[in-house]
Amino acid sequence: MGCSCQELIDPKEVRLDEILSAYQGKRGVLIPVLQEAQEIYGYLSQEVLQKVSRKLRIPPAEVYGVATFYSQFRLNPMGRHIIQICLGTACHVRGGAKVLKAFEEKLGIKDGQTTSDGRFSLEIVACIGACGLAPVVSINGDVHGRLTSDIVGEIIEKYI
Ligand code: FES
Repeated sequence: MGCSCQELIDPKEVRLDEILSAYQGKRGVLIPVLQEAQEIYGYLSQEVLQKVSRKLRIPPAEVYGVATFYSQFRLNPMGRHIIQICLGTACHVRGGAKVLKAFEEKLGIKDGQTTSDGRFSLEIVACIGACGLAPVVSINGDVHGRLTSDIVGEIIEKYI
């Protein structure tokens, strides 16, 4: 009979364990460890934060404090549709902030947040290389250009 142990191995957990072992006992490693953990899982769950705290022997309050302080860290999974609003220079001067505000108001979330139904996540990004179409928004990688705040509702509808 074949061993089924392999089915139980979670490659993400193995990777996290490797990272934690590599950083164990070193100082000032919390932020890079959290960055790598987020790269693996896409966000930082309670379990991951607890594990980081345990393995690196850093008090849970400190780990949680750092994870909540820096906006680069996400404590919840990303939504099904990822809306990236460009606020690079070209988009900014052509009204990117108004477009951002329209998305925030329609969805009821801010940069780095996800709607409670898990449908949309909102992120502010720097130039995505489509300056000629500024202001632009990328949704799941599809670029929407020359946006105005009054068509934001229409765009969101397409992803519902
Ligand atoms: S600044 Fe927005 S695409 Fe370049």
